[in-house]
Amino acid sequence: MTDDLRARVQSVLPGVRHDLEELVRIQSVSADPERLHEVERSAERTAALFAAEGVDVEIVRAYDGAPPAVIGEKRGPAGAPTVLLYAHHDVQPENDHADWDSAPWEPTERDGRLYGRGAADDKAGIMAHVGALRVFGDDLPVTVRLFIEGEEEVGSDTLVELLGKHQERLEADVIVIADSGNWDIGVPALTTSLRGLVRVDIEVRTLTHAVHSGMWGGLVPDALMTLSRVISTLHDDAGNVAIDGLHSGPAADVDYPEERLRAESGGAPGIEWIGTGSTVERLWTKPALSITGLDAPKVAGASNTLVPAAKARISLRIAPGDTTENALARLVEHLEAHVPWGATLTHEVVDTGEATQIDATGPAYDAARAAFSEAWDGTAPVDMGVGGSIPFIAEFLEAFPEASVLVTGVEDPDTRAHGANEGLHLAEFERVVLAEALLLRNLAG
Ligand code: BES
Ligand code: MN
Repeated sequence: MTDDLRARVQSVLPGVRHDLEELVRIQSVSADPERLHEVERSAERTAALFAAEGVDVEIVRAYDGAPPAVIGEKRGPAGAPTVLLYAHHDVQPENDHADWDSAPWEPTERDGRLYGRGAADDKAGIMAHVGALRVFGDDLPVTVRLFIEGEEEVGSDTLVELLGKHQERLEADVIVIADSGNWDIGVPALTTSLRGLVRVDIEVRTLTHAVHSGMWGGLVPDALMTLSRVISTLHDDAGNVAIDGLHSGPAADVDYPEERLRAESGGAPGIEWIGTGSTVERLWTKPALSITGLDAPKVAGASNTLVPAAKARISLRIAPGDTTENALARLVEHLEAHVPWGATLTHEVVDTGEATQIDATGPAYDAARAAFSEAWDGTAPVDMGVGGSIPFIAEFLEAFPEASVLVTGVEDPDTRAHGANEGLHLAEFERVVLAEALLLRNLAG
């Protein structure tokens, strides 16, 4: 049976690859208002791909003009378990084309990888699901349901509403979230913890209007320097997040060798790691805070004026076990307590997503571990955490607390999701498709 499935995967793979390339050519950047029609196109294309596999699909949205999600169902034998397949069809902005070695929207193969924005995150997740369905054709061993959202990369604002609206069509015994990755090339993984996220824009104001920096400098603080001082209070000298009242937890017992960290992290030569605790704790189960954007006058053309107001985007990753409600309250308290010199600090929440800690035991996990070991020729999957976030998981578990959640995916340590030269490792992708087919077979019992 495994040999049959292997052969079937090999035979469907060229078509799956072709359809993936077509999806990558669609610029479904959910954060870009100018390209929302492309998000519509990727929903339509995704729906068509699943419809061709016999899935009864529908494009749904929380309200008129809200991002399009694809839901659907294909029934298996009576009495078989129901498995919900999740992925997202929106992608991150490609940013500066000059940083890419090939055009971001033209899928290009080099050295066994397929490069392009979304080639991995998460259009390959969609195609792993399509591939598994294609492998089974009319002999699907389980009932499959589908939820492919179009707003994951912008915080899934309308998700709760969508889940509420379509609750009875999304209910499942097991849910497979193809939006994470594996431990290394040749070593599969199941993701058992994810951090949550709180993004907040802050604005610091020190003047009602710009004034001559020579006339008033020395007496009136400028906003950019004041904002920098606020930002500098967010970490202690060792680089730990210095906000009181945030949760930290212990991490899975895995060794992430220093050479791999150096090679995979993108850290420039000589850069020191920040924070304390084991490296995987720092990456997966402690909070992390970064500044991901800054609104300030450009250096070229900067005039001798005191800048009246400046803005920064704070991206706070929170540990499994913490809540966005707690983290947001602690962050705001900290900011308000640390603005110097009577400056005004205002904040606006950009988006939030809860963290997840999964109980990785039970029959669905047994089925998954067996499937992954088989697909990777006897190499058992590692339980790993990730520092990134998939808000859908917590929302879904809230709606369906009895479901088993399996977090899988196509990424590997060099995928460069969200960065330039994002790429899918094609040989690993074949194993991912096989593993998902084996998983569906195993779940059928
Ligand atoms: N696929 C990622 C989540 C992920 C990151 C999995 C790293 C495994 C490793 C997902 O598409 C993502 O990037 N999510 C956003 C969510 C946010 C906008 C709420 C993130 O983590 O920034
Ligand atoms: Mn993703």
